[in-house]
Amino acid sequence: MSFIFFILVEIKKASFITSSPTIDLCPPPKKPEYAFIGRSNVGKSSLINMLCNKKSLAKTSATPGKTQLINHFMIDDTWFLVDLPGYGWARVSKTTKEEWNVSLRNYLAKRENLVNVFVLIDIRHDAQQNDIEFMNWLGAKSIPFSIIFTKSDKLKPTQIETKVQSYEQRMLEYWEEMPIHFVTSSLKKSGKEEVLLYIEQLNQSCF
Ligand code: GTP
Ligand code: MG
Repeated sequence: MSFIFFILVEIKKASFITSSPTIDLCPPPKKPEYAFIGRSNVGKSSLINMLCNKKSLAKTSATPGKTQLINHFMIDDTWFLVDLPGYGWARVSKTTKEEWNVSLRNYLAKRENLVNVFVLIDIRHDAQQNDIEFMNWLGAKSIPFSIIFTKSDKLKPTQIETKVQSYEQRMLEYWEEMPIHFVTSSLKKSGKEEVLLYIEQLNQSCF
């Protein structure tokens, strides 16, 4: 006899902890941590709100460059979710950009409890050089990452498949295989279970 178990993963409790400009001001690294990053306006805050079943946990806005710090959220008293500012901001000075870049890379390379980085990509766009360079940098530093394609509601299912395939082709120019990836829409609330299940599985392997 065989049993099929359906596991429904839901976040029950999510609360904002703190915003830190640098790694040394982050909360003590006592829980497994998952960071979300992507270009400005890619839909990070919307995705985080969808994952957490909250309307406005992470601030969403139509103005690019709103998130400007390392934002920690505590999830179900079990893991940290981190909302990171988008790289490639449109509206900040070059010095601010460079300062942030140093803080960000320092955080990513040195945060000891960081389990995985989710790199968000707007599914409508072709692969952008700075996204590819960023993922190559993560690879060079042996920082585990996955890709989350966002805003899939803006495309038809066949277009989604084509976009993912062409992204894969681009990644294979640098990588032996396509990293684990998820197709999501915060508007339609799709892809949520897949991402949460993945985090859950990684959490299990952390204990
Ligand atoms: P910054 O923090 O400013 O870098 O932006 P962000 O990446 O956090 O993006 P945010 O979630 O604020 O969303 C940016 C815009 O995209 C907003 O107008 C959202 O309503 C819209 N948006 C986000 N996710 C989706 C989605 O899944 N589908 C659609 N159609 N629009 C979305
Ligand atoms: Mg944001």
